[in-house]
Amino acid sequence: VSEPVMSFQRLDSRGKPTVQVEVETKDGKFRALVPSGASKGDYEAIELRDGGEAYGGAGVQKAVQNVQETIGPALLEKQYDLEMGLKEIDSFMIKLDGSSDKSHLGANAILGVSMACARACAAAKKLPLYDFLASELQSSPKHHIVPVPFFNVLNGGVHSGNTMAFQEFMIAPTGANSITQGIQWATEVYQTLRSIIIKKFGTAAIGIGDEGGFAPPITQPTEALDLIMSAIKGAGHEGKINIGIDPASSEFFGDGHYDLGFKSNKPSKLSSTELADLYRSLVDKYPIVLLEDPFAQDDWESWKFFHVVSKIDNIEVVGDDLLATNLIRIEKAAEVDACDSLLLKVNQIGTVSESLAATKRAYELGWVVFVSHRSGETTDDFIADLAVGIGCGHLKAGAPCRGERVAKYNRLMDIEEELQARKVGSSYAGESFRYAYSQ
Ligand code: PGA
Ligand code: ZN
Repeated sequence: VSEPVMSFQRLDSRGKPTVQVEVETKDGKFRALVPSGASKGDYEAIELRDGGEAYGGAGVQKAVQNVQETIGPALLEKQYDLEMGLKEIDSFMIKLDGSSDKSHLGANAILGVSMACARACAAAKKLPLYDFLASELQSSPKHHIVPVPFFNVLNGGVHSGNTMAFQEFMIAPTGANSITQGIQWATEVYQTLRSIIIKKFGTAAIGIGDEGGFAPPITQPTEALDLIMSAIKGAGHEGKINIGIDPASSEFFGDGHYDLGFKSNKPSKLSSTELADLYRSLVDKYPIVLLEDPFAQDDWESWKFFHVVSKIDNIEVVGDDLLATNLIRIEKAAEVDACDSLLLKVNQIGTVSESLAATKRAYELGWVVFVSHRSGETTDDFIADLAVGIGCGHLKAGAPCRGERVAKYNRLMDIEEELQARKVGSSYAGESFRYAYSQ
């Protein structure tokens, strides 16, 4: 780091302030923008917000100040050798913060610096970002895996204004030959879905949610899945596209029940056994390959029962709020046998190095890893490189719509072409999206 680290308050995709960081080295200027969740888990690192009047209290000037006045000067003084990698820099920031949840300097401040420094380190080592991230994971892939994108085409939960309790219905073009083809198919399904929604509910119903998916006036998960199946068929891609669901159930859990009517004034309370039965019936009827946060973040018994006792074959059970990209939570989940997939969100833990440590541990446990954006995103495409770098085979970045979502998909197409041009071995994860790492 050769110049003072700069930080600015900028906006995320919901028009809420977020942190931008710029690190300058002899190789150039490296920038990062920090994402932010809405259905946040209770165990995530703390993003610093200013409170007060401006932006309804959501300003991040304190975090910006912490970068400029505390983290930046300390890094400048330390003169880290960027060719040595990112770990030392991240560990230094963790110590400088001194709290267990980054609440002192702010996970948003620390992550912005961590991501910008990752880019600076990659440039110092003359590596593309994805190869630098692979090297930090201590893997030097001979064969690069381009991940299958899971596109959230129908939005519910706290990401939309309809009465659908389940947050995300995703389509995954597992049958495609390349990411470019997968993105084309997903876009065709998305546009067909749009026409179906217009026909069924009128043009007023094609408004979209925070992650770019449609949010028509539906309540039942089967209604969402039927719409998606018609769109897949209508677009001519039947049998080649799978489905993932993130109910984000921590959002509608309370008093031992899951209330699927939490967004309307008609409660519809299910016990965890009834909810598990609902999942099972959906899996029987639709080509579902992945279920994320089927139960609430502290409902360990239900996770365990669902995953161990009533195991549904060939369904990936992903921990998002449950794990919060946190090693302590990952160990607990492994002990309980709650899930078999880590949702990887860099801002849940607050540094890139800790995200890679979580990845490493998940792989050691025989789990898979699913890279994720946040509902409040930016045009920063860091996670595309992350998914390729760790070779995890699948990622979710929202619908094929809205600039902050397509930024990630466009970057993945860039990477696919770059890998082909470099003539290093590479392939689209396709049907092997879960086993990609071990290939
Ligand atoms: P969030 O939602 O970014 O609002 O937390 C994403 C998710 O739950 O996976
Ligand atoms: Zn989730």
